[in-house]
Amino acid sequence: MRITMIGTGYVGLVSGACFSDFGHTVVCVDKDEAKIEALGRNVMPIFEPGLDDLVLRNVKAGQLSFTTDLAAGVKGADAVFIAVGTPSRRGDGHADLSYVFAAVREVAQAADTPIVIVTKSTVPVGTGDEVERIVTEAAPAKGIRVASNPEFLREGAAIEDFKRPDRIVCGTDDEGAREVLRGIYRPLSLNQASPILFTGRRTAEVIKYAANAFLATKITFINEMADLCEVAGADVQQVARGIGLDNRIGGKFLHAGPGYGGSCFPKDTLALLKTADDYGTPLRIVEAVVSVNDARKRAMGRKIIKALGGDARGKTVGVLGLTFKPNTDDMRDSPAIAIIQTLQDAGALVRAYDPEGAEQAKKMLSNVEFVEGPYAAAQGADAVALVTEWDAFRALDLSRLAGLMKQRILVDLRNIYPPEEAERAGFEYHGVGKGP
Ligand code: UGA
Repeated sequence: MRITMIGTGYVGLVSGACFSDFGHTVVCVDKDEAKIEALGRNVMPIFEPGLDDLVLRNVKAGQLSFTTDLAAGVKGADAVFIAVGTPSRRGDGHADLSYVFAAVREVAQAADTPIVIVTKSTVPVGTGDEVERIVTEAAPAKGIRVASNPEFLREGAAIEDFKRPDRIVCGTDDEGAREVLRGIYRPLSLNQASPILFTGRRTAEVIKYAANAFLATKITFINEMADLCEVAGADVQQVARGIGLDNRIGGKFLHAGPGYGGSCFPKDTLALLKTADDYGTPLRIVEAVVSVNDARKRAMGRKIIKALGGDARGKTVGVLGLTFKPNTDDMRDSPAIAIIQTLQDAGALVRAYDPEGAEQAKKMLSNVEFVEGPYAAAQGADAVALVTEWDAFRALDLSRLAGLMKQRILVDLRNIYPPEEAERAGFEYHGVGKGP
């Protein structure tokens, strides 16, 4: 199959590279010349484990190429995937669809074959209908069909997620479009663990938001349970295991922590609320999730201040991990931002280390001393706060860390260390959801 991918962000680049690895011929298009030029030199615009090797291998094999020329990229394609951003619109939180619609118009005008336009960007229910309207207006007689194919990959595990998804969702009622999508996903669906679910287009659009909102709800639920455990003398990790072993609940996404962040959950939950409001069917559970999660980030900053005895003025906090999750350099809506600002508002000095996120973090945070490595962050500090669970923080020499500090306070917002182990190393330990 000949596939064109519009947009080389996380989803576009990973999907394009993986499709090419499955033997399809893929052209990735992006307006950003610097990005395309860098990709030509195998310099990735994002940090994602394994992506550079995957891209290089397929570029060398002639299966994958990059261009800024959309019209050339679309020529001869069977399917054109739209994977451009749908950021929160300033002011109202709706998904900003202007990039999607602009791309669709250009693609429809450039098409020289009866392509299937497949929306992979996360878009509110009904967007496919609007895309179809634009196509009919821009290219009335080309036989272009429009389908929805949301993506469920996670940052940091993107290639594995794309190649072995739990399911593939394709929304279209057009049999020809289904045939094309079946052909594209055949290599993945041969693996029995990744079934293709064909649905109507609107249903596919809702599935994407419902999945993200449900996962955000699961996280927020266990985070509130953690708060209860802390005051009631229980252990949230055991609670998560105790409920997660029930197959109806499932053990995943029950890690209590500083609240969810990233480029998807915060933006998508907000956009879903806007859509639901527009339809006159408010989603009260999701509303609560959004506000509970927002409040949680600063509350985690206050938790660190409390561990410092309630006064952070003039004290130094070493922050380990800044990105919203490990194995990415993505700082978007990372809890670390609100946590650090809360500490700074209370007069603390913040020293921080992140294995990949420092460059992005420098653009978002001021007056933070960025250091190289966890031990440098702990040097002379009054507390160390573990904010992101990078593997590099899982086997720290805790005695050495404690030995470098002025006060030996460890606030482990990801529950990486068993309290006894930290206490043996001389720390006063504060986990999440671990009651006295
Ligand atoms: C999320 C979804 O997991 C993907 O399925 C989806 O495709 C993607 O959004 C998207 O819509 O593009 P992602 O944001 O990359 O993926 O990362 P997650 O692993 O889901 O983590 C999101 C946030 O939740 C992180 O801040 C993480 O620390 C937090 N989290 C996750 C928890 O606090 N506890 C958990 O148990 C799991």
